[in-house]
Formats: sequence, structure tokens, C-alpha cells
Amino acid sequence: MSGWETETVSVEIVVPDDWHVHFRDDEMLAAVAPFTARGFHRALVMPNLVPPITNTTTAAAYRDRILASVGPDARGDFTPLMGLYLNDDLDVDDLLAGHRDGIVFAVKYYPAGATTNSEAGGASLAGYRSALEVMAGVGIPLLVHAESTDPEVDIFDREAAFLEAELAPICDEVPELKVTVEHVSTRAGLDFVRGHTGVAGSITPHHLTCDRSDLLANGLRPHLYCKPVINSREERLALVAAATSGDPRFFFGTDSAPHPLSDKESVSAKPGIFSAPHALEVVAELFYQRGALDRLEAFVSLNGAAHYGLEASAEVVRLERAVGEGVEGATTILSADGSEVRIFGVDAGRRWSRLSRRCC
Ligand code: NCD
Ligand code: ZN
Repeated sequence: MSGWETETVSVEIVVPDDWHVHFRDDEMLAAVAPFTARGFHRALVMPNLVPPITNTTTAAAYRDRILASVGPDARGDFTPLMGLYLNDDLDVDDLLAGHRDGIVFAVKYYPAGATTNSEAGGASLAGYRSALEVMAGVGIPLLVHAESTDPEVDIFDREAAFLEAELAPICDEVPELKVTVEHVSTRAGLDFVRGHTGVAGSITPHHLTCDRSDLLANGLRPHLYCKPVINSREERLALVAAATSGDPRFFFGTDSAPHPLSDKESVSAKPGIFSAPHALEVVAELFYQRGALDRLEAFVSLNGAAHYGLEASAEVVRLERAVGEGVEGATTILSADGSEVRIFGVDAGRRWSRLSRRCC
């Protein structure tokens, strides 16, 4: 853009959903959940606590703790949708009951060892074939962390490897299963979604705006370290094209994943980027730069709801872009137990303001 912008830009969109978020628990939950509740109509909450959320009882209790931590102002406007962690502890009858009762929304598969708190995950997706068939029968979506854990496969090729070796056979054998490839990070992921009916892909703000040079070229940036690892510029531009195209198979999932500074600025940094406060603004700025603000609503507010068979929010929010750089905001948050967490997207956050929600 030129340096001579003089007009305020604004866009009005249906209040968005976050289709992939990590809230953690206790003090961290209390510190991070209000940011999501303030900005989003619904959030699909990941179950990778320690121990993981594998049954309806713990999912219901976790949902109550989330609602208690978002505060009375946001509570009426915000719905956490709960995912169960797929492993040998998951009981299909309990899953069916939890889904029937509106407590369990989806099931998440983590390959064991692929990412933060995935130690309790599965050795192979094929091992859960009978549960997946039951899910397909009643329309429970499968959310997939699509990353091979084969040490022989290069870290930047692990999404493609998993999709080909593990998810493709399941999609062929259980074709009615509704699947989301979470945090798509490569063209292989985009192509997989395009090539399979009933499969959609969520895309994060950091995979859309950063590539591995940002992570590695100017000093190692542990705060940009996440799984799947952000990939090349070429892959990123393919993600941007998909997200800004309006294609209904792609939608927004922040993968906001808070870790204390001590776990990020460490000899072995933990993967995860905390983006909840400004995730929406990061994507608004990207769509603005691409001349695609008219397609922002499809990506952040409509496509995901349609994939999951839900109505979009009945409220709208107005986003306004400041002419100058805007007011500098905080770069970290502090939880009550003293953990400091770095916020992603502070520059976009100072550029854009959200004007209050109203009914449309
Ligand atoms: C997530 C976390 O910290 O829980 N980390 C990440 O890098 N995305 C887990 C996940 O979604 O992989
Ligand atoms: Zn995640």
C-alpha cells in the first residue's frame, strides 16, 4: 500500500467463529478465554489438556469452567463447542450420549507425539475405524492434526505424509465422515481438502501471514514456533489464495495456543502461538492488503458454520482500520499465577478497532 492513505477503511461482518482454540485450564484459562469470548460467536475448544478431555463428564465440567471464566458480559453471546480427544479411553456410547445431549460437538485426533500435549494421542488413525464409522453415522465431525510423526519424514513434509498415509484411506473407506484438516499449512493440505467430499480445512492467522523465513532468518523466533511448523513462502501464498478466494471449504481457526514465556524462550521451545486478542485483526489486515475485504466474512464467519451445519451469528461487528499506525497495545498478558504470554499480531491489533456488535 502507498504511504498516503487518508481514508478510514471499514468492513461490517457477521460476528465470526473460531473453529480451533486452546484455552488450557485454571489461571491460564481465566487469562485467555475472555479474549475469545469478546471477539467470537462460538469457539471450537481443543481437548488437549493434561490429562486430555476424553469423555462427556469432563467435557461438560470443562465447558462450565470456560463459561465461568469469560465473565457475565460475554457469556450470553459466546458458546464454547467441545471436542473430545480420540484415544483408547474414548467410549463410543459415551460419545453418542454426549453428542445427543449437546455437550460434545466433535472429536479430535492427535498423532501421539506430534504436538503439545499429544502424548496421549493415537498411534494410527486406522486403529479407530469403528469409532469413526459410528461418528459418520450420526454426523459427529472428526478434526485432524494432520502431521506424520515418522522421524524419516522431513518436518516440512509431514502434513502431506500424514494425509496420504493415514487420512486418505479413512476418507475412502468411511466416505460419509465429516472431516476438518486442522491448521492447513501446505498446498498438499489444500489439495487434499479440494479432492475429498465432506472434507474442509481450517487456516490460522499465523500460517497466512508468516513463513519459515520469519521464523528462522533474522534470529530464531520461538514465538512463531507452532505445529504444524509454518512452511515456505510459496505454501503460505497458496493458503492466502485459498482463504481469500471465498471457497466455502476453507475457514478460520486461530489455533490460539498460549504458553508461558519460560516455555517459549527455552532450549526446547514448546509449539503454540497465542493469537486470540488480535487474530481477527491480523486476518482483516491481510484481506485488506489483498483487496479481498469483501470475502473476509465468508472466511471468518460463514464457511465454517456451513461446514458444521450451524447457523451463522445473527449479529454483526464493524471493523475499522486507522489511517495511521493506531495506538500501541500490550505485547504480553499476565495470568494470575504469574505466567506471561506473548501476543501474536500486535501491529494489526493497533491498526484495527472493533466497533460494538449489533443485531442485523
Ligand atoms: C497447540 C498447543 O499448544 O496446544 N500447539 C500448536 O503448535 N499448534 C497444539 C496443536 O494444535 O498442535
Ligand atoms: Zn491447535
